[in-house]
Amino acid sequence: MAQVTLENVYKSFPQRKGEETVTPVTLETLPRKDNPIETANPTPSGSVNILRRINLTVNDGEFMVLVGPSGCGKSTLLRTIAGLSGLTGGKIWVGDTLVNDLPPKARDIAMVFQNYALYPHLTVYDNIAFGLRRTKLGNNTADVRMGNEKGKKIPGWMEDLLVGMTRNLPQEIRYISEKEKAVDEQVRRVAQLLQIELLLNRLPKQLSGGQKQRVALGRAIARNPQVFLMDEPLSNLDAKLRAETRSQIVKLQRQLGTTTIYVTHDQTEAMTMGNRIAVMNRGEIQQIAPPLELYNHPANKFVAEFIGSPPMNFLMVLVKAPRTLHHPQFRLTLPEFWTTFLEKYDGLLLFLGIRPEHLILGVPAPKNLRVQVESVEALGNDTYISVALADSSTLQVRIPPDLDVKIGDQIWLSIADDKIHLFDPKTGIAIGANF
Ligand SMILES: Nc1ncnc2c1ncn2[C@@H]1O[C@H](COP(=O)(O)OP(=O)(O)OP(=O)(O)O)[C@@H](O)[C@H]1O
Ligand SMILES: [Mg+2]
Repeated sequence: MAQVTLENVYKSFPQRKGEETVTPVTLETLPRKDNPIETANPTPSGSVNILRRINLTVNDGEFMVLVGPSGCGKSTLLRTIAGLSGLTGGKIWVGDTLVNDLPPKARDIAMVFQNYALYPHLTVYDNIAFGLRRTKLGNNTADVRMGNEKGKKIPGWMEDLLVGMTRNLPQEIRYISEKEKAVDEQVRRVAQLLQIELLLNRLPKQLSGGQKQRVALGRAIARNPQVFLMDEPLSNLDAKLRAETRSQIVKLQRQLGTTTIYVTHDQTEAMTMGNRIAVMNRGEIQQIAPPLELYNHPANKFVAEFIGSPPMNFLMVLVKAPRTLHHPQFRLTLPEFWTTFLEKYDGLLLFLGIRPEHLILGVPAPKNLRVQVESVEALGNDTYISVALADSSTLQVRIPPDLDVKIGDQIWLSIADDKIHLFDPKTGIAIGANF
């Protein structure tokens, strides 16, 4: 097992007609503990930056989740770590080894692809065994059995040939080397772990999506690599199988203790699977933090909006010293600790962010908002309503499921003033955030 360290990683692709040379970035990257280094951009002219300034350390045995909108560079990042795609700049370390110039095979990393990438002509057994047969299990020479003098060695290549030639023969006359015995043990152990023992003789086309997924996982696990890279491995599964496989992966990862980087679009996966989450946008890492810290203390407006479903609501407000926020529909005085943070924003506009669960049904008051209910989504355990303000902008609100609220109702909402977030309108950076 090993720590994975990315240091100032850049990746660019040759520019295509009509594309910008450098990916535009709306948010200034903050100088922070986890993204401290800034060097010259190594991108050659005429290229498009896909990854910029990626600094990320995944600790030994850690489960790191990578999230971000489609096209932000998640798969590209995984492929550069795996060695399937080269770097434009920066360094990648696996443990103490700088792997920049090592081919994928030498990196001891297993990748699970979104589309499984199973070998269609090989059985489940052979799909799982494939990587093992080419790697470190067993010796290159072994005791010769099957009538040969015991203890005499034959070269590894000849053994592999014999194993291959007799593989489809009946068990009794098959040539089984020590290496093949070790492969067999490992394949069966992994199949048991993933509950696919009964599928070992099938071809991939005879499997359901979920079963294929588990075979792909099995193939990665069997190799017992230093690092797992998983690219949206559950995206093709139905909700139930997805939830089951999700907890299975987490359990397996804990058991094996293998350093893992897991890419997903799914909010629940991101929040529940990882020790930490790295949020990416437009080729840059926006924030790296444990799930709840990310939810409670987003570093900028992008992270605030991306993490959480339904997403955080935003309202434009005017700051009046020392700590009052003015909106056409309400006036809110914040707790005292905001005073120092808001000093320099006196008379300026800011984004106020508030999560759906922090808007509470209230009474008519200057600090509260009068809204009209536009839609009601009762999910059973929770009810979400969408409400419109006087300027016809909308907010998402979570209310207790037993509350009787109907479309068209006029209601008052109170903002939990200890749960608000404020963002600089130019940079999007969270004001007063402690990170
Ligand atoms: N070989 C390539 N040549 C040029 N551009 C590429 C190449 N591969 C990827 N890109 C571009 O790089 C960007 C990032 O792609 P990538 O596949 O890493 O995104 P992603 O975050 O994995 O998205 P998704 O969530 O949709 O899988 C995209 O704009 C894509 O078009
Ligand atoms: Mg992708």
